[in-house]
Amino acid sequence: MAEQKLSGDVFYPSAEIKNHANAKCDELYKFASKESLSFWSSEADNLHWFKKWDKVLDDSNKPFFKWFTGGKTNICYNCLDVHVKTFRRNKLAFIWEGENGESLSLSYFALKRETCRFANVLKGLGIQKGDRVTIYMGRVPEIIIAMLACARIGAVHSVVYGGFSVEALHERLEDSQSKVLVVADGAFQRGKIVELKKIADEALQRAATVQSVVVVKRTGHQINMEQGRDMWYHELMALPIANSFCPAEKTDAEDPLFLLYTSGTTGKPKAILHTHGGYMVGIYSTLKYVFDIHEDDRFWCAADPGWITGHSYIVYGPLLNGATSFMYEGAPSYPFPNRWWQMIEKYGINILYTAPTAIRGFMRYGDAWPNRHDLSSLRLLGSVGEPINPEAWKWYHRVIGKEKCPIMDTWWQTETGMFMITPMPCTPLKPGSGTKPFPGIEADIVDDNGNPVKPNEEGFLVIKTPWPAMIRTIYNDPDRYVNQYWSKYPGMYMTGDSARKDDDGYFWIIGRVDDVIKVSGYRLGTAEIESALVSHPSVAEAAAIGLPHDVKGNAIHAYVILKTGVNKTDTLVEELRQHVGHEVGPIAKPEHIEIVDSLPKTRSGKIMRRVLKAKALGLDPGNLSTLEE
Ligand code: PRX
Repeated sequence: MAEQKLSGDVFYPSAEIKNHANAKCDELYKFASKESLSFWSSEADNLHWFKKWDKVLDDSNKPFFKWFTGGKTNICYNCLDVHVKTFRRNKLAFIWEGENGESLSLSYFALKRETCRFANVLKGLGIQKGDRVTIYMGRVPEIIIAMLACARIGAVHSVVYGGFSVEALHERLEDSQSKVLVVADGAFQRGKIVELKKIADEALQRAATVQSVVVVKRTGHQINMEQGRDMWYHELMALPIANSFCPAEKTDAEDPLFLLYTSGTTGKPKAILHTHGGYMVGIYSTLKYVFDIHEDDRFWCAADPGWITGHSYIVYGPLLNGATSFMYEGAPSYPFPNRWWQMIEKYGINILYTAPTAIRGFMRYGDAWPNRHDLSSLRLLGSVGEPINPEAWKWYHRVIGKEKCPIMDTWWQTETGMFMITPMPCTPLKPGSGTKPFPGIEADIVDDNGNPVKPNEEGFLVIKTPWPAMIRTIYNDPDRYVNQYWSKYPGMYMTGDSARKDDDGYFWIIGRVDDVIKVSGYRLGTAEIESALVSHPSVAEAAAIGLPHDVKGNAIHAYVILKTGVNKTDTLVEELRQHVGHEVGPIAKPEHIEIVDSLPKTRSGKIMRRVLKAKALGLDPGNLSTLEE
């Protein structure tokens, strides 16, 4: 078929890349757009089902969609057992490198063995199908083993990012009512130790439901072990109960697989619920086609398992595809800015998937660091988490990809579970655009009334039809699920992003339209930062906004009203920053805190963050008719 002539800066994929691709793009788009349910069911057919589904999509109780109803499967079985029965038994499932240079490789056989052993430990601790288990660790192999072990027995994991701190962990433990916490003693980060167990001890004083704590020894530094509650992972794994025979639970397609907390417009983080069946099909298929996974590939998704990117594309997606996934524990530029490039050369990584903030960070160090290394193993690159500015895209393409690796700029969310707007290797690329919806996905840009906007006009990004890996509900809060995502435009899923489509139908994401701030690609809510600030005894009121930042994309700026009688000092400002770090996590520490006497509010008392933002940027604050003073 003749190539479509596109406007603007376009990078066409080479014939070599196109011929290699799993996805025959034209056919896939055509098939999926005409018969999306047949497309998804043909993808599901590639996976193992203990019992085949009766119905691909059950939309009888919108927006509580169900997929592959009546089907019985287990994502862990599909990630491990299926491959262990084939020539992949001794293939590497994971290659791991620690920040301190240690390394570990796990074959599919070994990963299955360790998963079964830990699943038996969890059972021994009383964990049953449906029980929640919180996991709080750095990027170590045990985090993967713990997630898979939960999935195997039908328990629901809730991974809390190791960069979160006391209150964030407490809230998630309490909301999920977890019985068991799996934690590491600490994590290595930039040569220092993050004291995860110490943070967990403090969080546990605030949370009541945890009965047992399993502690993975990573750093070996001195920690407190509470008798009767805390147990070492390696000691439990040495018990006879930790044997390697543990049949996978035959879970229902709609049985919960995990909760993952994410920030929303208001209030506390919400627990996004994903399930065994649809989630599995969605991430299996998107990874296979978008990153063109082949048998001998080594795939590196440089995210953290504590975020959706890590769940879907470090852990489950690569394993479902029988691929070899690489995970690195530490900081990108530690001890030197060539650390990543050194590892790509050392392990022969073929596909690198990272975030614009990391790319911009590397750009600052210059081309010489990557140029010292042989990066010729790379075939495809990826980007996720925030819009990638064309300058960073071009640097990534030229310096890392040597102008031969297409960049898959994947737009998606914790809630979508899988890539939604993304190129495939055969797609002509425009730097900064996620190109088009994945086959079977119907996305659009609409105005305030839900009508499609014209090309090049900005509007709200919506998804118009259900997809298998979609959020099922907000755990414990189905009303919030309906209100948050489905109430503004009936029948359309509201993403919370603004975007525009160009004349070629290419999507360009602009950013969040709500009170979510993306800092270095991490999703934070203004509400979390503000509530951490007001939990400090000196603070009466607080407001947080995101302002543009060269490397982080956005940086947090906070405005604080002190309690009467409290004096404004530099030490207090620093203390407030540290306090946010202690309660939410280092990523949430405001870049800048300004002490003010008042905050712009509506007459009903809502803080007008857009006014603060406009003022900070020297822009027109727009309509002020609702401003109280
Ligand atoms: O604003 C979009 C941005 O990240 C948000 C979702 O954040 P989270 O749930 O943490 O998931 C991040 C990783 C999937 C989106 O609403 N976002 C994500 N990917 C992109 C993006 N913005 C622009 N381009 C992307 N490729």
